[in-house]
Amino acid sequence: MKATYLGHACILLEFDGTSILFDPFISGNPLAKDITLDQLMPDYIFISHAHQDHILDVETIAKQSGATLVSNFEIITYYQEKGLKGLPLNHGGHLQLGNITVKYVTAIHSSVFPDGTYGGNPGGFVLWNSRACVYFAGDTALTMDMKLIPMLCPSVDLAILPIGDTFTMGGQEALLAADFVQCNQVIGCHFDTFAPIVVNNKEELINLFSENGKTLHLPTMGRQIEF
Ligand code: NI
Ligand code: MN
Repeated sequence: MKATYLGHACILLEFDGTSILFDPFISGNPLAKDITLDQLMPDYIFISHAHQDHILDVETIAKQSGATLVSNFEIITYYQEKGLKGLPLNHGGHLQLGNITVKYVTAIHSSVFPDGTYGGNPGGFVLWNSRACVYFAGDTALTMDMKLIPMLCPSVDLAILPIGDTFTMGGQEALLAADFVQCNQVIGCHFDTFAPIVVNNKEELINLFSENGKTLHLPTMGRQIEF
């Protein structure tokens, strides 16, 4: 399994031969100016909620790649009306993508498109097959619902968690979230893109995770991490 950080909450995950892009926000992110959109050919685009900083490049990438969108019912309906293909689900439900099972899980946040269209309830995703299990939290506060994940899903190998604070949980709470989902490998995201989510104490945070037996990866732009 290989994860490539494309800035903000955008991660390209190579999951056992299937390529999944989460929350594409590249063309509007000055920190991602060296990432080129036209090489992105994912099989699926997962969308956690409808905010601009998670959907900006959905249409461009879906059109060039033919990717299938996966998100909540309202977001999928919105894009189906624009001619894109997608698979809807909602909290508590599962979806089967070949040998990969996807579950849409609670996120405490909000969700509206930039044009004002209702974006349904925000969520995160747990996806797994017989070889690996990944949790992508989306924009969320720390929530006790995260404790359900180890009860309902296989053991989580990798958790992708927001750490930027202000609009989501911050790094210290992400450590608790990693505890709640019982995962030791964490990729931090949703930080540094905008002034309110700049993280200044990165070293401290990385140390805090390691003191608690966990690894916090704060990848630089375009960097690939193998798990
Ligand atoms: Ni958001
Ligand atoms: Mn966001």
